[in-house]
Amino acid sequence: MNHLIAPSILSADFAHLKQDILMLNNSEADWIHVDVMDGVFVPNISFGFPVIAAVKNYALKPLDVHLMITNPDRYLEDFQKAGANVITVHYEACDHLDRTIHKIKELGCKAGVAINPHTPVSLLENVIEELDLALIMTVNPGFGGQKFIANSYHKIQQLRAMADEKNPDLFIEVDGGVSNHNSLALLKAGANVLVAGNAIFAAEDQLHAIAELKNISPD
Ligand code: DX5
Ligand code: ZN
Repeated sequence: MNHLIAPSILSADFAHLKQDILMLNNSEADWIHVDVMDGVFVPNISFGFPVIAAVKNYALKPLDVHLMITNPDRYLEDFQKAGANVITVHYEACDHLDRTIHKIKELGCKAGVAINPHTPVSLLENVIEELDLALIMTVNPGFGGQKFIANSYHKIQQLRAMADEKNPDLFIEVDGGVSNHNSLALLKAGANVLVAGNAIFAAEDQLHAIAELKNISPD
């Protein structure tokens, strides 16, 4: 499968969010990555349902919602109603992960699980067959514009090997510090969805920055 690009609107200009969404509609982006932070699971607060619903009014691409919140089960239906197409919860934030994955699927969304930099890939072994997507955090979650953690390559390779065996259609998403300096290596390691915030929204020519990430060929 060709890899997907999911620009993170955490790095967008919130006073001009509509223009940024229209720009993404006209770009080679595949999904729109939406980072929700509760100030408890991560040391930052981003935005919630009204903002996601406003984005959904203009977005022509699927919303890839990354929940950095504790006990996400409480709000899954609200995120689906606000317009989420993919819902990714954190392994570290769920007591009953298998149940949470099934709830997401029952809502008609694709189900993802994210793991923090300290969390081993092996902990996904018993749920990987249920998943549509696994997200490897390549920074500590909470903020855009951080430095990529190099040890992540090994985790991506491990996850790719596990997915090849148990769930070859799994989306393997990487999130944090992704840029055109490391994206080829990330794809070669086995990722097929690249999230990028700063590398896109801080660029002078955002459409070009997206096209550059999209047009890399790992072969
Ligand atoms: C971090 C978020 C990321 C963030 C990525 O907690 O999950 O999606 O927006 O931003 P960059 O690409 O700037 O590291
Ligand atoms: Zn994210």
